[in-house]
Amino acid sequence: MISGATRLCGIIGDPIEHTMSPVMHNAAFRKLGLDYVYVPFRVPKGEVEQAVRGMRALNIRGLNVTIPHKTAVMPFLDEVDATAEKIGAVNTIVNDDGVLTGYNTDATGFLRALLERGIDPEWKSVVVLGAGGASRAICSVLAERGSKVVILNRSLERARGLAGEVSASCGNEVSALALDGLNLARALGEAEVLVNATSVGMSPGVDESPVDARLLRPGLVVFDIVYSPLRTRLLREAGEVGAETIGGLDMLVWQGAMALEKWVGVEAPVETMRAEVVRAMGEGED
Ligand code: ATR
Repeated sequence: MISGATRLCGIIGDPIEHTMSPVMHNAAFRKLGLDYVYVPFRVPKGEVEQAVRGMRALNIRGLNVTIPHKTAVMPFLDEVDATAEKIGAVNTIVNDDGVLTGYNTDATGFLRALLERGIDPEWKSVVVLGAGGASRAICSVLAERGSKVVILNRSLERARGLAGEVSASCGNEVSALALDGLNLARALGEAEVLVNATSVGMSPGVDESPVDARLLRPGLVVFDIVYSPLRTRLLREAGEVGAETIGGLDMLVWQGAMALEKWVGVEAPVETMRAEVVRAMGEGED
C-alpha cells in the first residue's frame, strides 16, 4: 500500500516502456518489506536537467538513468564517484537530503556478476566485443581491476578510440582490433574470458552470434551481456563445447542489486529480483 510515508525511486530514459527495472525493484521492496515504490519516467533528450531538479524538489530517493541520459546527467549532480567519472557515464543517482551522487553500477554490477561465479578477472586476458556505451563501462572496470583487455569492434576506429580513452584513464594498456575472423581466432587463442558487449544475437536477431562456434573451447568463460533472449546463440554454442557461460540477466540483476543497496542500505534479494525478471519476460532460463 502507498502511504504518506512511502519513498520513491525510479528510472529516467527514453524510450522507457520496455525497462525491466520497475518489476525487479518493486519485487525487491516487497520482499524486504520496505515502504518504497519504483516507477518509470519517460524523460526526452534535452530535458534531463529538469528531471534532476524534479528529483530534488520531489525528494525522490534514487533514480536509475538510461539511454539517452547517462552522460548528459553528470553536470547536474553534486558528486560523481571515481568509477563513474572514469567511464563518463552514470546509471544510478542517490539523493541524500538534497545532495545527489552519481554511480555506475553497470560497471560494478558486471564485475560483481563475474566475482559471484568465482571468476576474478585480475591479470586475466579478456576479449571484449563492441565499443559502445556498455563496452566502455565493462572495459573500464576490467582495466581498473588489472585485466589485459583487447577490444574487437566492427568499426576499428571506434575500438581504437575507446582503447585509447580507457588506457589513459586507467593507466593500463588496452588494445584494439577490427572484429573479423582472423583477429578473433588470434585473440581468443590467448584469452581466458570473452565478453559480448555488442547487440549481435539480441532479439529479434536471435539466430546470429558474433563468434564462429569453432573458435569456442572448454575452459573459456563466455559472458554475453545480451539478456533478451536469456540464452543467446553464443551462450548456447559456448555451453555445447563445455565453456562456462554467464548471461546478460546476471549483469542486469547485479546492476540493479547494487543500485538498490545504495538507496536502502540493506542487502538486495538477488534471487527474487532475478526470478521476477524471468517471469516478466515470459521465458524459462534454459
Ligand atoms: P551500447 O550503448 O548498448 O553499447 P551502442 O553504443 O549502439 O550500444 O553499441 C553497439 C555495439 O554493437 C557497437 O560496438 C557496434 O559496432 P560498431 O561500433 O561497429 O557500430 C556493435 N554492433 C551492432 N551491430 C553489429 C553487427 N551486426 N556486427 C558487429 N557489431 C555490431
